[in-house]
Amino acid sequence: MAFKDLPNDSIAKTIIVAVALCLICSIFVSASAVFLKPMQEKNKLLDKQKNIVQVAGIDTSGRTIAEAFEQIEARVVDLQTGEFADQVDAKTYDHRKATKDPQQSEKLTPDQDIAGIKRRERYATIYLTRDAQGEIEKLILPVRGYGLWSTLWGFLALEGDGNTVVGLSFFEHAETPGLGGEVDNPAWKAQWEGKQVYDDEGEVELALVKGGVDSSTPNAEHKVDALSGATLTSNGVSHLVKFWMGEQGFGPFLRNLHKG
Ligand SMILES: Cc1cc2nc3c(=O)[nH]c(=O)nc-3n(C[C@H](O)[C@H](O)[C@H](O)COP(=O)(O)O)c2cc1C
Repeated sequence: MAFKDLPNDSIAKTIIVAVALCLICSIFVSASAVFLKPMQEKNKLLDKQKNIVQVAGIDTSGRTIAEAFEQIEARVVDLQTGEFADQVDAKTYDHRKATKDPQQSEKLTPDQDIAGIKRRERYATIYLTRDAQGEIEKLILPVRGYGLWSTLWGFLALEGDGNTVVGLSFFEHAETPGLGGEVDNPAWKAQWEGKQVYDDEGEVELALVKGGVDSSTPNAEHKVDALSGATLTSNGVSHLVKFWMGEQGFGPFLRNLHKG
């Protein structure tokens, strides 16, 4: 019996229609995924560039993010030696992939892993801007660490002195909106500008504290107000700053930069 002659409520016709519908839908979904992939990649790149430009406080008036990003130099740093690793091409190096790849990262001991990231990659892509004399003006360093629900991925931007904060911004996290998610609140982020990472002995002193920070707070230049109702996310942020500015992170690189 031909398909069109089958009664509508027959099992065979129901199965044929269901299979055909699934096939058509799956072709449509797969084709959309393939077709949209380049656009997604482009948007991801643009979002990353936007984050870097914004955290570095670069003025974008009258130009696009991509144009503003052109003044930023991407370089790769060897976290083990604290030197630039110019043998690794910043344009093609996939830093994110390296964070999970056992060939490109090493497992941290529980003592080392204060940021809860499990592995630390050998090479990190950093971004910098230079002044008219070619001296480093700002450093934009990738940072990440576990909050309450998720790993927060972001950038900490420093002045060329490798100590004064320009800004901290997260481009990816899954903390609760209104609680840990307040890491994205511009008013909270504004507090970071001008803070000092290291004390006179070169120890990482910058951290979040509960109860507000004003000029009467001891060591106010090293303190940022913790997020209210989100102590665990706040601790995560303090820990990631301590980790990435310390010996396992960019500490050796920033010291070398200061010396050189
Ligand atoms: C649904 C829900 C979501 C929460 N999300 C967060 C969060 O994103 N970050 C955080 O630190 N605490 C979050 N908390 C609160 C923590 O469990 C904990 O109470 C809080 O970190 C303590 O902060 P406090 O000492 O400032 O009150 C959440 C609690 C609930 C019930």
